[in-house]
Amino acid sequence: MAFLFNSDAERAKIFKAAFARELPGLPFITDAESIDPDAIKYLITWTAPADLDRYRNLEILFSIGAGVDQFSLSALPEKVKLVRMVEDGITRMMQEYVTLGVLAIHRDLPGYIEQQRAQKWAARPVRQASDRRVGVLGLGNLGLAVLERLCPFGFPLRGWSRSPRSIEGVTCYHGADQLPEFLAGTDILVCLLPLTPETQGILNADLFAALPPGAGLVHAGRGPQLDAAALIRALDDGHLCGAILDVTDPEPLPAGHPLWHHPRIILTPHVASVTQPETAANAVIANIRRHESGLEPIGLVDRSRGY
Ligand code: NDP
Ligand code: OXD
Repeated sequence: MAFLFNSDAERAKIFKAAFARELPGLPFITDAESIDPDAIKYLITWTAPADLDRYRNLEILFSIGAGVDQFSLSALPEKVKLVRMVEDGITRMMQEYVTLGVLAIHRDLPGYIEQQRAQKWAARPVRQASDRRVGVLGLGNLGLAVLERLCPFGFPLRGWSRSPRSIEGVTCYHGADQLPEFLAGTDILVCLLPLTPETQGILNADLFAALPPGAGLVHAGRGPQLDAAALIRALDDGHLCGAILDVTDPEPLPAGHPLWHHPRIILTPHVASVTQPETAANAVIANIRRHESGLEPIGLVDRSRGY
């Protein structure tokens, strides 16, 4: 049985060396045509190949990234486990990005960038961190890690998830019923939700209206969660103060799209966090070991929830 790697050559080199060291008995394949498809037990890829059905003995489909919304869950054979990437590199980078975004909003970087362009030297109003409530949508691997990193700044922290959570130092809310209360006490909203039918379009006009005046947004989830026109309206009418966006719909964002030019938006091209091959290879190897000893892999997707 073999492991099929379907990603770029640079990553392949690093994965291959780690597999040779840690799992020498498992052939590591990068050319799908070079092997009998029945020999493939594990596949790692960003999107499912069109001919996935030919891997009749596939047991685990690993996503090379943290998200799995790019896979059509209903098209995957029931017996194949889908596993998202949970690895330290992604987590650390997301901690950095969200901290950058929260501090940028907290210290009004969009306002200072606008003033710099106008050659205007003027201090803008300040607020202490203890007076700026940060709320995170999504309390999974990344949401939790981000809250941990933000804690020392002294922001009052809150989080929202699907199921009830209890996290020290974080006021927790869950479910649609508690979303309005969560939003009403959130000055900087961070989105780290997976894309599912329930979260598509969740960052919309109603949600923005439920935030306190002057709130800001850091969005590093998925582009289709955001209604861009509603965001622009909320920024233009002054209800929101700024937004840091790492994801858009579509990606890449087409030239001339209004998100490119809005003075209160700072945009990055889906780079908040990127799978780091060294740590990712270790995570995948650990999951293969878990699977082979009868344990569930870390990051196993629950198909009924879609994440
Ligand atoms: P997890 O699966 O670990 O966590 C998801 C969290 O979202 C859980 O807390 C879950 O609630 C919550 N959630 C899901 N659906 C709902 C809902 N309908 N209502 C309320 N809460 C909900 O995911 P990760 O933390 O690993 O990753 C989150 C997302 O971040 C990824 O899916 C991806 O889209 C995005 N991402 C973006 C990157 C970038 O570079 N911009 C890089 C990596 C990831 P519960 O705890 O109850 O299950
Ligand atoms: C991911 C991403 O899901 O890069 O890993 O967004």
